[in-house]
Amino acid sequence: MVTVALAGAASGFGLTMLRTFLHINSKSTTPYKFVLLSRSDKPELAALGIEVRPVDYTDHVQLVACLTDVHTVLSVIGGSVEAIKDAQLALLAAAQEAGVKRFAPSEYAGTSNDTIDLYHGKAEVWTAAKAVAQKTGMEVTSFQCGIFMSTFATGTTKPVTEVGKREGAKTGEEDALAGLRPWNFVVNMRAGTADLPGDGTAPIVFTETRDIATFVYHALSLEQWPEVMGMRGDVKSYRDVLCIIERVQGRGFLVKENSMDEMRARAAGDSGKVFYNQVRIALVEGWGEVPDTLNRAFPDVKPVTCVEFMEKWWQGVEVGEASWGEDRSFM
Ligand SMILES: NC(=O)c1ccc[n+]([C@@H]2O[C@H](COP(=O)([O-])OP(=O)(O)OC[C@H]3O[C@@H](n4cnc5c(N)ncnc54)[C@H](OP(=O)(O)O)[C@@H]3O)[C@@H](O)[C@H]2O)c1
Repeated sequence: MVTVALAGAASGFGLTMLRTFLHINSKSTTPYKFVLLSRSDKPELAALGIEVRPVDYTDHVQLVACLTDVHTVLSVIGGSVEAIKDAQLALLAAAQEAGVKRFAPSEYAGTSNDTIDLYHGKAEVWTAAKAVAQKTGMEVTSFQCGIFMSTFATGTTKPVTEVGKREGAKTGEEDALAGLRPWNFVVNMRAGTADLPGDGTAPIVFTETRDIATFVYHALSLEQWPEVMGMRGDVKSYRDVLCIIERVQGRGFLVKENSMDEMRARAAGDSGKVFYNQVRIALVEGWGEVPDTLNRAFPDVKPVTCVEFMEKWWQGVEVGEASWGEDRSFM
């Protein structure tokens, strides 16, 4: 049985990935052995039937020992710039020494990391991963999914679905967020406002996190890993998405366009604002148009579309008249 280690899958997106993997695995005739690398022993996750290997990313010898039987390492480490950089560089070095065959760093965003300060750690890790690949033959890949579709989930009052119950979600919103923290990114679904990147017409890939996990699970079976594996839930501009939301919610939105100069001027000060504006600038420049590698490789995977997502989480939800609130752009 092929052993796959997930690093940092105890919260957020990674936890949704872990739960989705275990679900698909339970129905597979060729299941994987998944192990979780975590900085603590996580008994609640061990109870789900996954072997938890507590790790200290500053202890190279211990990290190597945890990886000796591992074929593939998937990192979904998040947190600070330093965590993304230091923990992943340590993981990569240990994977190299342990003879791990495949390594996918914590990417899960757009086509590059270079213009986004918060992602500079990701950029360094990716450069290091490619160097290891060249030197040792380890296969490395950048999984790219665009923007999480659950950025349109915050504020829904819909009930928990069967999938959410299976995953332990306490509210419909938690179910819809599927690992994302409540967050109004560009669109505020409750207030009825949109703070667009540019004029909002740039095409962007939006992918639901369980679909990302499903594509990645299937990618584990590929004979060879290309350097980039993109996946697409749906490709829409924010203008397209607004048309869908307005129809589903039955009200008009207040919309603000933002020029590149305006967004550049606002990409300063608070790190949240810098991130928000740097991502919006990148979106106008095409950062959100990730390739469809895994859709083509696995046409039987039918990811959720924006229409399906909006109807599922917003049809029939009572919303008032649109108004710009305190939270105009970033939460
Ligand atoms: N495309 C999008 O729209 C989008 C949106 C959100 C996130 N993402 C991406 O998804 C990935 C996961 O993000 P997330 O927000 O879900 O992550 P997160 O919940 O903040 O963190 C995930 C895990 O990282 C580990 N971690 C945190 N700080 C660490 C440290 N100092 N050293 C070592 N490990 C540390 C923790 O694992 P342990 O405690 O178990 O060790 C934690 O459970 C990231 O690559 C992020 O950029 C993409």
